[in-house]
Amino acid sequence: MSQMSQTKSRFGTSQELLKASNFFAFPEKPADLISLFMRAGLLVCLVSSIILALYSAFFTRSQWFVPPDLNRTSRDVSVGESGPTNISHILFGIGASVKTLPKRRPYMEQWWVPNATRGYLWLDEEPKEEKQKTGPIPYRVSEDWTRFRYLSSQSAVRIARIVLESFKLGLPNVRWFVMGDDDSVFFTDNLVSVLATYDHNQMYYIGGNSESVEQDVLHSYDMAFGGGGIAVSYPLAAKLVNIIDGCLDRYYRFYGSDQRIWACINEIGVPLTQQDGFHQLDIRGDPYGLLAAHPLAPLVSLHHLDQFEPIFPNQTQMDSFKSLMKAYRVDPSRILQQCFCYDRKRKWSISISWGYTLQIYPSMVPVLELQRPFQTFKTWRSWSNGPFTFNTRPMSSNPCQRPVIYFLDRVEETSTKSGSLSIYKRFVAKDGKQCNREDYGRVMTVQRIIVSSIKMDPANWKKAPHRKCCEIMDRGSIKNGDMRIRIRNCRAKETITV
Ligand SMILES: *[C@@H]1O[C@H](CO)[C@@H](O)[C@H](O)[C@H]1NC(C)=O
Ligand SMILES: *[C@@H]1O[C@H](CO)[C@@H](O)[C@H](O)[C@H]1NC(C)=O
Ligand SMILES: *[C@@H]1O[C@H](CO)[C@@H](O)[C@H](O)[C@H]1NC(C)=O
Ligand SMILES: *[C@@H]1O[C@H](CO)[C@@H](O)[C@H](O)[C@H]1NC(C)=O
Repeated sequence: MSQMSQTKSRFGTSQELLKASNFFAFPEKPADLISLFMRAGLLVCLVSSIILALYSAFFTRSQWFVPPDLNRTSRDVSVGESGPTNISHILFGIGASVKTLPKRRPYMEQWWVPNATRGYLWLDEEPKEEKQKTGPIPYRVSEDWTRFRYLSSQSAVRIARIVLESFKLGLPNVRWFVMGDDDSVFFTDNLVSVLATYDHNQMYYIGGNSESVEQDVLHSYDMAFGGGGIAVSYPLAAKLVNIIDGCLDRYYRFYGSDQRIWACINEIGVPLTQQDGFHQLDIRGDPYGLLAAHPLAPLVSLHHLDQFEPIFPNQTQMDSFKSLMKAYRVDPSRILQQCFCYDRKRKWSISISWGYTLQIYPSMVPVLELQRPFQTFKTWRSWSNGPFTFNTRPMSSNPCQRPVIYFLDRVEETSTKSGSLSIYKRFVAKDGKQCNREDYGRVMTVQRIIVSSIKMDPANWKKAPHRKCCEIMDRGSIKNGDMRIRIRNCRAKETITV
């Protein structure tokens, strides 16, 4: 009881509060009565003028009162130039040097679409020889970057400042700044699909980390690795450019340019938005397993294409990339998308990575296993067997414990241009080993697989991800070594069940 009577608010005891609110306390003397009426009149005046002011603000001058747009979600585009994000809203800033240019330019020329892709290659000096020219890709020479401190790499300073120099160009209608290396390749239609799902009026830092755990431990798990591409929205870039030069001196001990950008963005308080499909590709050896089991997300970028084995056997690194780009151009949203079907009569499992490879297993293999990448590669720094930031399964050297593998031979558009045929041919492993068992023999009668599909609508990537289904056509008949498969939307009750 005593506790209750002594209750003290933050403003004083209840007694003190009563004393303070004596504006309308009934007067003890008649003289005070006049004063009370005056105070009351004053209050009436005050209240009515406030009501009048509010009324005129909201109703007589209705342009002051903007009703909230109830249909807008936080990821929609809004202020300024509106409409969905397209390629013209992205300004690329590619870190290049005259020394590496002759080797890397052919890769860039494959993905850079003249007069559509916006941005610049940022070079360390003016190119002098013909082979150092940037071809159809516009270039700029970085401003003096040598006044900043550095420990291991001075070019990291230069490349970190690309976002600043790109911003300072003041180009109109830029929603995103995307930085990459000269050995990064971008699948720009898919980059647009991904960035269009974010509100560019908010501060976003988007990318992916390294596949090799050792790299994430050394640098950071929550850093966008530069080779996979770093997307920074306009408002974040606007803040970043004010502090980046200070960051360069503060974080001069860091190794890479991406690490400097990460450190600086952390000072602004913006975390990394991890997005599947940005690939740093910090792996050694053969990237096959990774590309044959891509996560259910659009393929945005690849990196290090000249650092590991060609992605198509029997082709050079450059020709391999061209082959992949041919498929990408036919159906950009679908490139590397995986789907599975079973031949229940023969007890075969089939995994397709569209535009790249197809596997047939002479057994029923559950989806959980089919979607797990074969570990055909090693870690970046120490060439170890892992760990990686995703699960892998071993690729046996015994041909009777591997699937029969097919690679893309060619892609054709259907006559109406609404769909495609992609044709995959059986491939004999480099070591020439084949399994002599009867069940493998039956699979190997299939020489080619012809996969038909309607082109995938990029709007698919605005929805929650959902794998497509496929089915074996012609009741599984194999004519002249050809088998036909169709990729389609899954039916309402369809599941991919062994
Ligand atoms: C909200 O969306 C509905 C249906 O698309 C449309 O009819 C309506 O005009 C929209 N309202 C506003 C305020 O944009
Ligand atoms: C991109 O969108 C803008 C409007 O935001 C439009 O003016 C422009 O034509 C579009 N460009 C392309 C290449 O679609
Ligand atoms: C790009 O635009 C320039 C100038 O408008 C034009 O001369 C050139 O032919 C165009 N290039 C392509 C590949 O369309
Ligand atoms: C690889 O190329 C060689 C020479 O062009 C050819 O003889 C061989 O059949 C090819 N191998 C495959 C699996 O395509």
